[in-house]
Amino acid sequence: AEIIIVRNQEEAGELYARCVADLIKAKPDAVLGLATGSSPLAAYRALASIVRDESIDVSRVRGFALDEYIGLPLAHPESYHATIHRTVVGPLGLDPDKVHVPGDVLDGAPLSDGERVAAAGPAYDAAIEAAGGIDVQILGIGTDGHVGFNEPGSSLASGTRVKTLTEQTRIDNARFFDDDINQVPTHCITQGIGTIMKARHLVLLAFGAGKAEAVAETVEGGISAYCPASALQLHPHATIIVDGEAASKLR
Ligand code: F6R
Repeated sequence: AEIIIVRNQEEAGELYARCVADLIKAKPDAVLGLATGSSPLAAYRALASIVRDESIDVSRVRGFALDEYIGLPLAHPESYHATIHRTVVGPLGLDPDKVHVPGDVLDGAPLSDGERVAAAGPAYDAAIEAAGGIDVQILGIGTDGHVGFNEPGSSLASGTRVKTLTEQTRIDNARFFDDDINQVPTHCITQGIGTIMKARHLVLLAFGAGKAEAVAETVEGGISAYCPASALQLHPHATIIVDGEAASKLR
């Protein structure tokens, strides 16, 4: 992978935004892979301002998000559907009908709705394939090396599927649910590592000392399911953009 060390999130966001803006100019129906979380927010802001300043037509751009909770209706403010529409679709002016989140077809269906829930993953991978694949996938990384909701131990060949959230992830995400872990869903649907690896260009963003260990493991550790992000070492076009703190444990 190519490692780029930047001063701050804004500078990282500019690099992502320039790359995606040029892609959309060359391919107006580009397919963007989208992530939630805090790491991509400056990148989405930078892209929104380039789109505005350069009057780029984004009406044909398509998008696929990484993951979603199981059991939250789309309209719930903390669903990733709502989050992607609030932080990306709205600010960029994308066509909401062209942006997809893995749980869209479930709309809050519970885990007990077994067959329907199980079918959503393969259907999502098929939709990505039918769109011609993802051109640029933006990624954050968890402190434990997760990408999407692929926690340590996830198969590096996995497709989109239902996963159990770890206790730690539910504790981390309780801040979005009135600090009440009981309100945090227990399961999610996430693009697999195999799905993510099919994107033509991966851009992973990591900021702050809390990510330093995971970044070092991703870039310089062995390729292992214990650090799902380490699969990026096998990707032909992966760009890892980090600030000085997140780079601090690289050799
Ligand atoms: C987001 C996602 C997660 C986050 C990761 C980092 O859709 O799938 O893997 O990218 O947990 O989160 P932040 O950026 O909030 O540190």
